Amino acid sequence: MQWKDDYKIGISVIDAQHKHLFIATNELSEAVSKGLTPAIIDNLLTQLGFYAVRHFQMEEHYMTESSYPDLPEQRQEHQYFTKRFTEISEDFKQNGLSPSIVHAIQNELGLWLKNHVLALDQAFGAYYATAHTKKIE
Ligand SMILES: [Fe+2]
Repeated sequence: MQWKDDYKIGISVIDAQHKHLFIATNELSEAVSKGLTPAIIDNLLTQLGFYAVRHFQMEEHYMTESSYPDLPEQRQEHQYFTKRFTEISEDFKQNGLSPSIVHAIQNELGLWLKNHVLALDQAFGAYYATAHTKKIE
């Protein structure tokens, strides 16, 4: 899942983090394709997990700060991803690269990210732009 500038939501710090998340997800996917060692894959998983959690916190901070009404829905999706990501990581630690883990890493993570950024985060970007304009007026 390649990052495209079309995916930007218009808040530069969030856009930069989204881009990084796409790159980190791709890196992980490529590490699996290339058959890199479990230690490397585990390390990439851990880093991606930490980064994603920090990103969600920051995004939710922007939402709280701008009184975004759809914050609960966003929080739910973020929690879903975090839970699913933990399951995948744990499963990998126990069972290695089983077909379902390979599928989760190569398809599920990137797809979730793209769908989330293009739907919920785009909606927030549009709201934030309006909320901000109102403040300036
Ligand atoms: Fe989000």
